[in-house]
Amino acid sequence: MNNVLSRANTIFAFTLSVMAALTFGCFLTTAFDSNIAPVYMETEKHLVKNTYTPHGEKADRGHITFDLTSDLDPLFTWNTKQLFLYLMVEYETEHNKLNQVVLWDKIIKRGSKANLDLKKMSLKYPFYDDGNGLKGHDNITMTLNWNVVPGAGMLPRVGGQGKHVFGFPDEYSRKRV
Ligand SMILES: *[C@@H]1O[C@H](CO)[C@@H](O)[C@H](O)[C@H]1NC(C)=O
Repeated sequence: MNNVLSRANTIFAFTLSVMAALTFGCFLTTAFDSNIAPVYMETEKHLVKNTYTPHGEKADRGHITFDLTSDLDPLFTWNTKQLFLYLMVEYETEHNKLNQVVLWDKIIKRGSKANLDLKKMSLKYPFYDDGNGLKGHDNITMTLNWNVVPGAGMLPRVGGQGKHVFGFPDEYSRKRV
């Protein structure tokens, strides 16, 4: 009698711990999967110049500053080593159905500040069009995207929730920037 009871007790305890482990595993997987976060962006000082690219071709170059607010702390789970963020614009021109240009990027390592509140930032990489596609363009879409670099496992690529649409003036600027 005693034997049967203690056996049942052992099995019960074992089942409980297996279930707890399974639940925890599920929680981790979900936490790991949803690497999304809201992003707020704003741009200012939109200027477009007709200039030469480093390859010596005449092309439009856009100048902007940007603000960026996003709390990426929740993305740092047990398995997050670092985040690779990149700010990208997408727009359509006569030449190309889809132009994509990366204007800025940043690596956030585990343990450093991931609650971003950046103001009046300059572009890290120049915003060249491959022609005259920027002057007067009024529908350029900016998004923040990121790769979550894990300690172990895959490398998910995620787009932030939220986008910012801006445009450039109809006239080339002669201002020095
Ligand atoms: C703006 O451009 C995007 C593609 O970059 C396109 O899907 C969208 O329809 C455009 N919106 C307008 C109002 O032209």
